[in-house]
Amino acid sequence: MNKIWAELVDHRRSTSATTITELFQNNPSRFQSFSAESDGILLDYSKTSLDETGLELLLELAEQADLGSRITEMFRGDQINVTERRSVLHTALRRQGDTPVLVAGEDVMPDIRHTLQRMESFAGAIRSGDHKTATGARFTDVVNIGIGGSDLGPVMATLALSPYHDGPRCHYVSNVDGADITDRLRGLDPQTTLIIIASKTFTTTETMTNAETAIAWLRAALGDQASQHPAAVSSARDKTAAFGIPPERVFGFADWVGGRYSIWGPVGLSTLIAVGRDNFRAFLSGAAAMDQHFQTADLRYNLPVLLGLTGLWHSNICGYATRAILPYEHRLARLPAYLQQLDMESNGKGVTLDGSKVARASGPIVWGEPGTNGQHAFFQLLHQGTHVVPAEFLIAASGHEDALSHQHDRLKANCLAQSEALMTGRSTEQARRLAESRGYGGDDLERMAAHLTLPGNRPSITLAYPRLTPFALGQLIALYEHRVFTEGVIWGINSFDQWGVELGKELAVNLLPPLQGASDPSKDSSTLGLVAKLTQPKPAT
Ligand code: F6P
Repeated sequence: MNKIWAELVDHRRSTSATTITELFQNNPSRFQSFSAESDGILLDYSKTSLDETGLELLLELAEQADLGSRITEMFRGDQINVTERRSVLHTALRRQGDTPVLVAGEDVMPDIRHTLQRMESFAGAIRSGDHKTATGARFTDVVNIGIGGSDLGPVMATLALSPYHDGPRCHYVSNVDGADITDRLRGLDPQTTLIIIASKTFTTTETMTNAETAIAWLRAALGDQASQHPAAVSSARDKTAAFGIPPERVFGFADWVGGRYSIWGPVGLSTLIAVGRDNFRAFLSGAAAMDQHFQTADLRYNLPVLLGLTGLWHSNICGYATRAILPYEHRLARLPAYLQQLDMESNGKGVTLDGSKVARASGPIVWGEPGTNGQHAFFQLLHQGTHVVPAEFLIAASGHEDALSHQHDRLKANCLAQSEALMTGRSTEQARRLAESRGYGGDDLERMAAHLTLPGNRPSITLAYPRLTPFALGQLIALYEHRVFTEGVIWGINSFDQWGVELGKELAVNLLPPLQGASDPSKDSSTLGLVAKLTQPKPAT
């Protein structure tokens, strides 16, 4: 094993008996030493088992992986997505100022700015009512049809920014399950609904199937005029044209924008229509501020780097297989799902850039739910279960509901209480006293004390920010993108491809004929048995 990794493992072995609470007792300024801030976003990683030596070793690991140079290469437009032979330049979509970004010697910024302006004038005209429906009315609703990165980003961001939402209502359809589009379109008026078909490739089965259904829905109400209601977001202009979408309603982006990194450009169109130009621009500039910080801050104080190193410490050195994303921000309800794709599709890899087997566990399992709801569901396992799950809390100093600030106080109290409870737990002695106070005695007392004991010493990090503004949302999403990048660089993997999803797509195509009556004896008996079960006659309703 590489020397620094070996030192980290040894260090953990020799210090694991020291609890997080003891680390605070030994260092009264631990919070100052193990927290960092950038443009109002605070990352507190002091409630983890990391100490100075551990952090120094992790920073050495980042240096050894030449993280600084890798960051420069990404922002510079080098072809770091080696398996797809592409640059990785989602950061150019939110770049501020006039400096050029070169891909194959050509500055891509004029095109990006031009597309943003086209998106803004289209969105502005939909919002103002200047761009009319086929019957001359105002669009009241927008339905974005897309999946994965063409869905999760705008869904997450539109919900997150709902206090700024003053445009038409936005709805999202992703699943090929006909239930999704049926339930979304129910109650909408095709005469006043704009359909955005969002697909980078414009070949994704789910999206193209739902798009056909939506067009049929429009056509039933509008006849030939239905063609005036769809717009498209894609990098495949030939395919959008073949689908019949006129070029003035197509918003393109280059193949060096990965699907899960695409919210910053045309994939964000529905969010832009919802919140308007100024708010969307603030969202971009928040992300640009985090880009700047990532590129310039010393690694020791660099938020994405620290978040990444803490993640590595937990997954590789402590052996914790998952991470829980716990936004104490109800409007970030879709953030865990968004980060699941961002993190697991990027870093769920088994080989390094040169094709050799990755030496240690790569991307962890990401899951989560907003607090306080999660407290009444799965937090029991976080506090007393046999798995240790590093928790990542997100919390704002203020909510948007000024008249309900007393509720926000409760939200903050709950968030801080959870990270404190995870760390301190409740000792058996405390549990015994509690059981006694509840009237238990004798054998019952000991048994009850065991149930009331919380082991504690469970790590968490907290991201705290002033308020969930468009700027703050941009910062947070870019922070997580760069955290994923940092971890991927240290594991030596390509965080920008997703070959693992291909096989299932191919097999789904092969399985359609058997499900529609054809026989395919080449399949295993489980698949054939399930095909038989799933092709039973419909139950009587
Ligand atoms: O199947 C995975 C994936 O390719 C994601 O990476 C992507 O975000 C999603 O499908 C949708 O792809 P598209 O935007 O091309 O429809």
